[in-house]
Amino acid sequence: MSFVSTPEESDPSFSLPLLPVAVLAWGAEWLRDLPWRNTRDPWAVLVAEVMLQQTQIDRVLPRWSVFLERFPDAATCAAGSAGEVVQEWSGLGFNRRAIMLHRCATVLVKEHQGVVPKELLALLALPGVGPYTARAVQVFAFEQDSAVVDTNVGRVLARFAGHSLKPRQAQDMADASVPVGAGWAWNQAVLDLGSMVCQARAPRCGQCPIAEACVWQGNREKNGPDPAPGSAGVAGKQSRFEGSDRQGRGRLVAALGLGPVDRNHLAQVMGWVDDPERAHRVAATVVADGLAQETSSGFVLP
Ligand code: ADE
Repeated sequence: MSFVSTPEESDPSFSLPLLPVAVLAWGAEWLRDLPWRNTRDPWAVLVAEVMLQQTQIDRVLPRWSVFLERFPDAATCAAGSAGEVVQEWSGLGFNRRAIMLHRCATVLVKEHQGVVPKELLALLALPGVGPYTARAVQVFAFEQDSAVVDTNVGRVLARFAGHSLKPRQAQDMADASVPVGAGWAWNQAVLDLGSMVCQARAPRCGQCPIAEACVWQGNREKNGPDPAPGSAGVAGKQSRFEGSDRQGRGRLVAALGLGPVDRNHLAQVMGWVDDPERAHRVAATVVADGLAQETSSGFVLP
């Protein structure tokens, strides 16, 4: 594998920018009123973005403000234990994100006086903060003209371009599309365009403000394949939760939120009474991820 991008990969003109004026006009009319869109507090925005990474908006809505009441800033979060942050994360799933957020808060306090930085490299250096989250903080908290590429944006870009995009191509195309001074409104509009119109399974091309210039919209009428699946930022299908290791992990963390779990009850708590070996193996991964601690009698929250 080569780590040097070819000219084609990094050339922004390889894919045309989206039509910013049409997207902005659509956003002005249709943008959803979501609570994290009414704040520019970088910590509150960071928390929302970490929650929204792998959890549906409907499930984030009731948890975001409650989490911020308990941990209104990085210093309060860092002062709590990892276990307390995990408990406040309940209902959101993928609990490792709570541990990473707690580590992130600790680094913010130690290295940034408890303040979320606005520079891309400083953001990327924070635990649990990747390219999407770093740019989301730049755009949604600091209103910089950066561009986010998540699963919704990635789908819009690939379809508009008419071909699958490598990560660098998608980021270049997104960057090239941001209208000067309108980064906040533009990114919010593309996110909503992706989730409300350019949907994965049933796109509503008739309601899309950029359909006329969209290459896939033209090809689709001729049964052209959807370039979005497998393109940069576009999530694949999430694996089945029922019966998965993830389900057992979630059960263990939920039980730990109520109190210590005795080693002899582990298999039962994790829903695998017939397979204690699996329970112990998966519990070890929960400990390795920093979500639990092993004691002489069993497990506790860290
Ligand atoms: N507004 C800001 N970030 C968002 C996200 N990740 N998903 C939906 N709406 C958002």
